[in-house]
Amino acid sequence: IQTVVTIPVVVHVLYKNAAQNISDVQIMSQLAVLNADFRRLNTDYSSIVPAAFQPFSADMELVFCMATKKSDGSPTTGIERKSVAASFNFATNYYQSSGLLAWDPTKYLNIWVGDMPSPFLGWAYLPDAAGYPEDGLAIGYKYFGTTGVAEFPYNGGRTATHEIGHYFGLLHPWGEDGSLCGTLDNDDGCADTPATNDPHFGGNTFPDNTNTCVASANGAMFMNFMDYVTDQEMAFFTNDQKTIKTNTMAGPRASLLN
Ligand code: ARG
Ligand code: ZN
Ligand code: CA
Repeated sequence: IQTVVTIPVVVHVLYKNAAQNISDVQIMSQLAVLNADFRRLNTDYSSIVPAAFQPFSADMELVFCMATKKSDGSPTTGIERKSVAASFNFATNYYQSSGLLAWDPTKYLNIWVGDMPSPFLGWAYLPDAAGYPEDGLAIGYKYFGTTGVAEFPYNGGRTATHEIGHYFGLLHPWGEDGSLCGTLDNDDGCADTPATNDPHFGGNTFPDNTNTCVASANGAMFMNFMDYVTDQEMAFFTNDQKTIKTNTMAGPRASLLN
């Protein structure tokens, strides 16, 4: 029986100037988004998710808390900060000793926030990377949380929601690659997310069949957290996505519960 589980989070802030040294308030605004989105408590759920898709939606039954203890048992806020040089390459070095080392990635969800180079908002490692030094999420300071230096239209905290989906094994609705329907992989392993050729970006109208592999009355599920629309346009996970999460929690990420 699946129950609600709590995941301890560490946020590693790597900053080049005062603006990038995001506030505790900005970090906590991100945690609040996660704790709404992964319990289907987000207030935009009913306005963004069409009624026809609501029966497929899931409470993911995950809660996120800032870590309260380090591996050695000493108390912590779960936030650590480091000033880095303007030349620091966040994308390649965030988890190295020139950045900030992960806390035991089998026990904590590590999130690095810093000067992410365009065009990336963030990324995450899938469960097959469990325990690697780089395991966790890397996110740009402009795309983290809902306040402070977070920038529209990525100031809804949904980059971390999307990336934590990947962290628990979810794929994009169009599969792992950019192939056309029926050629290579267009499968995210979820029967309840209609397969598409490509991502959806902002400004879609329901129902949308411009990009589906098989046209249907409801069309593509572009308002799913695992698509690429803006933070204001995505609002749910599905039951089959929850099953992947549950299998990941029972498998490669089970050690997070210890
Ligand atoms: N492009 C990134 C990825 O594939 C993140 C997209 C997040 N979207 C958003 N609206 N914040 O992992
Ligand atoms: Zn993604
Ligand atoms: Ca699917």
